[in-house]
Amino acid sequence: MEYGTRASNPSKTRTQCIVVGVYEDNQLSPTAKLLDKASKGHIRKVLRRSDIQGKQSQTLLLHDVPNVNSPRVLLVGLGNAETIDAHRFASVTMAAITRIKKTSAKNTLCCLLDAEVNEKDLAWKTACMVERFDAGLYSYTEMKGKPPESPPTIESIDFQLADKADRDEVSASIAQAKALTLGIAAAKDVANTPANICTPTYLATEASQLEKDYTSITTTILEEKDMEKLGMGAFLSVTRGSDEPAKLIVIQHKGAKPRDKPHVIVGKGVTFDSGGISLKPGATMYEMIYDMCGAASVLGTMKAIAEQQLPMNVVGVIAAAENMPSGKASRPGDIVKTMSGQTIEILNTDAEGRLLLCDALTYVEKFNPVTVIDIATLTGACLIALGTHATGLFSNADEVADNLIEAGNNTLDRVWRMPIWEEYQTQIKSAFADMQNVGGRDAGSITAACFLARYTKKYRWAHLDIAGTAFKWAGQNKGATGRPVTLLTQYLNDRANET
Ligand code: BES
Ligand code: MN
Ligand code: ZN
Repeated sequence: MEYGTRASNPSKTRTQCIVVGVYEDNQLSPTAKLLDKASKGHIRKVLRRSDIQGKQSQTLLLHDVPNVNSPRVLLVGLGNAETIDAHRFASVTMAAITRIKKTSAKNTLCCLLDAEVNEKDLAWKTACMVERFDAGLYSYTEMKGKPPESPPTIESIDFQLADKADRDEVSASIAQAKALTLGIAAAKDVANTPANICTPTYLATEASQLEKDYTSITTTILEEKDMEKLGMGAFLSVTRGSDEPAKLIVIQHKGAKPRDKPHVIVGKGVTFDSGGISLKPGATMYEMIYDMCGAASVLGTMKAIAEQQLPMNVVGVIAAAENMPSGKASRPGDIVKTMSGQTIEILNTDAEGRLLLCDALTYVEKFNPVTVIDIATLTGACLIALGTHATGLFSNADEVADNLIEAGNNTLDRVWRMPIWEEYQTQIKSAFADMQNVGGRDAGSITAACFLARYTKKYRWAHLDIAGTAFKWAGQNKGATGRPVTLLTQYLNDRANET
């Protein structure tokens, strides 16, 4: 998708579709007013018929509006002009692209920047639209036997500027957001790829491709024998039942001086989670192709920041393995030793994410990180606690947590903080080992985070549980959401702007 800007009179602009906003109570946006004037009152006449009442996300497609060059004018309801906020603007944008998609317009002039949105500037509105338009147009077709027959699809969208002087701000925002959407799409693609193709080796190949595509990136792959040397007994216990070799993937983006400490992101990359010997029930086991969404978000974020040439050092780490039952698989009751020296009694082989992550989190100490953020589809309990709207956030550093909350609120890729108080640690005490890998039914996502906290004492750390937010299995938009690539990219950009 190409995005651009225009500043001439929209009624004269050569385009196949114009998108303009209308508010409740027949109130017109500035651009709708312009078109109404050019068409000698045609827009108001249509509104008086009440097929559209300007309610949030309503759409009405008009053809051949008099004295307007574009053959199509799409009216989009913005709701009450006084109360339009970030959320409403985002869903209006989504409604617009959903309708545009059904036309055969190849290019569109989008005039929604003229909507005043509470507390949001032009750059924000631009980024919001680029992100939603891209999300609205995304589909995963890689696995179709023959390419789906589809009408000609939209190739370019231009944003109408009220003033030429806004061009630099809007263009810069387009460039940043385009980089982000490339990262989001990459994350969705790899996450949607089924587990018979998307193996740990496949994730390693994707990471190596980043090295080929971007000069700022270097990728290193650690094999099982390397992990043995490092003493990663917990990580290796997860992969034991699988025929697919596990990989610890390290992707380095070097955007600052070599001496500058890096920010580290670590993703859970379980390419399929059958549960292992503690086998999951069959009914929804297929969802577990998405148990590598943390890894996908690391790949996507690394791509986005490399595209943006972010002037900062960032290390992306992926703990990739498949969790399968077999004669070689770990058994409930097994005790393993981690790289940190601490031992774990594995009471449930389905609590495998924390086993991979604890060793990966010890490994990243060597980078002397500013902060470490891990991203994992870690617990079904997080979906129960927060549903599909908020990612669970846990942290040993208030500043890091606050920064993530702020980045989430700004981008609408939101997080909600949960506690990791010492009191919860008693739930994972083990009789024989230093800890056990499950803490019972109560506070399942908290005890999982408390487990990880035992491996992250040496640096400022946050854990994002994305079990509820990274993918949707039901409904029309089924598949990976690309979350939390937006959150992480915003967080890292904010940190780069701080210094
Ligand atoms: N990958 C799952 C968690 C999950 C569940 C992610 C649903 C997305 C949707 C994880 O490995 C797991 O199986 N967790 C167990 C932990 C339990 C055994 C303590 C769970 O949530 O049931
Ligand atoms: Mn599991
Ligand atoms: Zn899992």
